[in-house]
This record gives sequence, C-alpha cells and structure tokens, in this order.
Amino acid sequence: MSETARMILDGQEYEFPVISGSENEKAIDISKLRGSTGYITMDPGFKNTGSTQSGITYLDGENGVLRYRGYAIEELAEKASFIEVAYLLIYGDLPNKEQLQYFNDSVTRHTIVHENMKRFFDAFPLGAHPMGMLSSMVASLSTFYPESQNPNRDITDIDLTIHRLIAKLPTLAAQAYKHNVGLPTMYPKNDLSYVGNFMHMMWGVPAEDYEVNPIVESALNKLFILHADHEQNCSTSTVRVVGSSQANLYSSVSAGVSALWGPLHGGANQAVIEMLEAIRAEGSPLQSWIDRAKDKTDSFRLMGFGHRVYKNFDPRARIIKKAADEVLGQLGVNDPVLDIAKQLEEVALNDEYFVKRGLYPNVDFYSGIIYRALGIPTDMFTVMFALGRLPGWIGQWKEMTENREPIGRPRQVYVGATERAFTSLDAR
Ligand code: CMC
Repeated sequence: MSETARMILDGQEYEFPVISGSENEKAIDISKLRGSTGYITMDPGFKNTGSTQSGITYLDGENGVLRYRGYAIEELAEKASFIEVAYLLIYGDLPNKEQLQYFNDSVTRHTIVHENMKRFFDAFPLGAHPMGMLSSMVASLSTFYPESQNPNRDITDIDLTIHRLIAKLPTLAAQAYKHNVGLPTMYPKNDLSYVGNFMHMMWGVPAEDYEVNPIVESALNKLFILHADHEQNCSTSTVRVVGSSQANLYSSVSAGVSALWGPLHGGANQAVIEMLEAIRAEGSPLQSWIDRAKDKTDSFRLMGFGHRVYKNFDPRARIIKKAADEVLGQLGVNDPVLDIAKQLEEVALNDEYFVKRGLYPNVDFYSGIIYRALGIPTDMFTVMFALGRLPGWIGQWKEMTENREPIGRPRQVYVGATERAFTSLDAR
C-alpha cells in the first residue's frame, strides 16, 4: 500500500502522496498543496525542500556517504580518471573503451577557443578576479555557437555543446589566470591528458617545453573527481533553475559559476587560506578565533567548517586531508599553514559549540592547502572547483531538460504594505 501524509488545515483533512527514493529517502509530494488548500509551504534556503527526483548523486549527510551514479566517491577518487567520471555523471554509466575513446577524442577536438575571445580578455583590468572572467567567458560561448540555443533540443547539438564546454573550460580558466598575472596565453596541447593539458596552459610559457609533473596531475585528477557533483547545492540548483527557462547550457553554467564564487559556497576555499594566513600573521591564540566564530555579534565564521547536509563528517574532506599530507610529502613542500589547519581542526572538534551543531571541516578546508602546494594562486582556487564541478552541472542540466521539468519559480508570502493611495510629490 502506498504511503500518504495527512495534513489538517482549518479543520479539514488533506492527503498527500509520499515519495520513496532508491535509498529509501522519503518526501511528501506537496505539488498539489496550493491548488487543494490555498496554502504554500515556507522554507527559506530550501532546507527541507526537494526540487527534483534525481538519479545522479546520492548523499547521506548523517553517515558521510557520497556516491556518483551508485559508485562510492572513495573508489572513484582512487581508481578513475576525471574524464571517465565526467562521462559517468553526464551519460549515466562508466564508459567502455570505445565510448571513452570517442568522448576523449571529441573533447580534445574542441579545446581551442575562438580567437575573438582573446579580445574580451584584453578588456578586463589587469588583476581581474578569474571567476568574474570565467563566468563572462562561459556565457559568451553561446554567441559563438548558436546551435547551443536550439529550441528543438536536438540531441546532436546538445552533445556538441556539452563536449565543447568540457573542452573549453580549462582553456578559458588558464587564459583567465594568464590575464590575471599578465602573461601570454598558451594554446592547448592535445596529446596531453585533460588535466595535463590544463597544467600546460596554466604553467607553460611560449617557446619552452612544459613537462607535466605526474604527482601534480594525479592530485588534480583526484581533486576534480571529488568536486564533480554534489546533488542540489547552490550552484547546481542555479544551473537547473536557469536551464528550466530553456536558457542554453552555456548561460546556465555561467550562472552556476557565479553562484559558486560566493564564500559560503565554492569561494570558501580561497577564504580558508586567507583565514589561515591571517591567523599565522597575527599569531594570536587559536582559541581567540574560535571564540570569534562562536560570537553571534561577530560576523566571522570559521571558513571551511560546516555544511548544509553533512552533520557528521564530509567524506571528501577526509580524502583531501590524506591527499594533502601525501602531496606535500611527495613534493617536499613544508607549509606552516597545514599545521595551523590541523591545530584549528583539533580545537574546533573538541569545542561544544562545533560538536553540538555538527560543524566539521568540509571539502574546502584542506583543498586550498593542496592547491597552494601545487603552485596554484589563491585567486584561482574557486576556478579549480568550477573545473571539477562542470560535469555535475552538465549532468544535472541534462537530466532536468530530459525530464522536461517545469520552470523554477518559487512562491512567497507578501509582508509589505497593503494597498495605499498614491500621493503627489508636493504632498509627500
Ligand atoms: N563557523 C561558526 N558557526 C557556524 C559555522 C561556521 N563555519 N557554520 C555554521 N555555524 C553555526 C551557525 O551560526 C548556526 O548557529 P545557530 O544554530 O546558533 O544559529 C548553526 O551553525 C547552523 O548554521 P547555518 O548557517 O544555519 O547552516 P547552513 O546549513 O545554512 O549553512 C554553511 C551551511 C556551509 C553555509 C555554513 O556552515 C558556513 O557558512 N560555513 C562556512 C563557509 C564554508 O566553509 N562553506 C563551504 C561549504 S562546503 C563547499 C560547498 O559545497 O560549497
């Protein structure tokens, strides 16, 4: 017998269907609530609101479980390449050899960006934040590739648009970095791996051979996989909502890049390093920073701590903490900020305030330390997150489109002035 939820409003009883997920997650389907009762629900920040039924990522925040299409994140981070994981998220299954070859070849074919786009970069001020440049550049791709705007949703055009975007994001990201620091841009080198090619465009200089360091390549591959999807987070929900108006993929993902930039979301990785640097520079005891984070009259928060869904531990943070130790060891980097991070984690995890609220280090707490060790400048940290998150955004946009989901349009409860008469300027 199918489950239902009963609600009593103004003395009248209403029944609503209960939906069960494949992992037995439960939801009350209130899509007919307003039509039958005249009421809406109120849930700022959508803390209890499911916006879709998705088959992409499973996340159990209480037990720290994260799986892409059924595969454990720990296993994917250990054994897969980022491009395989991208295929998995977008097309639903791990690719076989032929599928992987085709996907790789197609992505490789599209890595160069239109020469005219270089002029856009020239117009940005020196030192422009790469995230601002990246979101503008991604949106502008739709003007170069009008088939991305195809309202018939032709599958060939959609695939071409997807492959182009995956191919061009690393090129645009590296160009944004080069512009930020005033260095010449590099053309892609298509005999390199997806990650290796990005490294070449980031750190290579004209007329010199760039050698891809396999330790860095493997660390970036892992970091990208760990960031590749995280179900209905702020930027992904943004991509889906923008896409629900039938806006093209480039515009939808550009909006996702903007949403990711904020320090409460992907921008936290930059904010964490800035916070750890400030702690080091000030030399004040860690407890004073913890006290500030607990003080409700102080807007300071411990960056890299807490998560909307994980209230026990963030499985990505565990993997990254271990990887940070390994990578720093392999590269022979001794970063004092890593020690501060470990001490801060220790103090916070033993503090009742953090324990009671389930505030644990999240993915961004240790990722910035690895990025630093790999030579990535702080301004580029959130760009790295965006590169990793791209397949998730695309997979979610594709799912939303294929499910023909309705346009995203929440309701509100109006609390402003009731009707009043207009008064002329003289009378005000
Ligand atoms: N430092 C101090 N107090 C905190 C923190 C923190 N980092 N995070 C949450 N709290 C407190 C918050 O003040 C509230 O306390 P109270 O119940 O007394 O009012 C309680 O914990 C619950 O916090 P919330 O803001 O209601 O929780 P949320 O689910 O709305 O916010 C969050 C989640 C990630 C935005 C928040 O924990 C935060 O701001 N963390 C710091 C920024 C950060 O690291 N963001 C990266 C998130 S992971 C990467 C990603 O996927 O984007």
